[in-house]
Amino acid sequence: MKKMLFANWKMFLNEGESFSLLKKFEYEFSGRNNFEVVIAPSMLYLSSVASVLKKGVLALGAQNLAMSKKDSLTGEVSAKQLKDIGCQYVLIGHSERRTLLGEENDQITQKISLAFEFGLTPVLCVGETLKEKNEGKTEAVLLKQLSGALKKVNLPLEKKIVIAYEPVWAIGSGTYLEVEEMEPIWKLFRRFFTSVYSEKFFDEKVMVLYGGSVNSLISPGFLSSKYCDGLLVGRASCDPLEFVSIASYFD
Ligand code: PGA
Repeated sequence: MKKMLFANWKMFLNEGESFSLLKKFEYEFSGRNNFEVVIAPSMLYLSSVASVLKKGVLALGAQNLAMSKKDSLTGEVSAKQLKDIGCQYVLIGHSERRTLLGEENDQITQKISLAFEFGLTPVLCVGETLKEKNEGKTEAVLLKQLSGALKKVNLPLEKKIVIAYEPVWAIGSGTYLEVEEMEPIWKLFRRFFTSVYSEKFFDEKVMVLYGGSVNSLISPGFLSSKYCDGLLVGRASCDPLEFVSIASYFD
């Protein structure tokens, strides 16, 4: 699997800014096929961005999807609609949604199942708070999040799934994980997937990203680690120079 650089634009940009960043990224990343760049614009502009996206340079991701496939769910966007406009990836269980919107495991599970059903690759976000880290609960929290999200999902073993390890304390805070701390996390993920599915499945179909205040200073360390298959970038993905600099370490 190619390494992945995922840009989560959150609500940072308006439509014009999204288009302009898209054009810059297409220029920068065209012909660089050794890694995959995914952009996740605001849901409001997803369709207009999709309509001008050049084929084959950037992949499109959504920041969320509806937890139901019933057509009556006011204000939501379904997996079917995301697929229809050309989305390939979808973020699920981002900590901002878990903490601020009360998103819980049963919703996350349904979203993962729907993503698979409609041909989208889920990017499942997991991570502990600072309090949990300081209390030595990181492993327990991550295992609970993984099993809570995945235990009722009939995981199609031929499809890939991305796990984004985003410590809550690192998101948007300017503090980040030490790269050495990725190894036990990756091993924990491997243990989980091996016990529930198989080692082969983990090795061939599961990608592990790091996210949380990613910038061009820390990206080389993470990208040279065998315990990290890519990066999930929020704020810095809206700064073209910084994002291109982060991307330069994928070469
Ligand atoms: P950040 O956001 O890079 O601004 O910390 C990451 C994320 O929330 O996905």
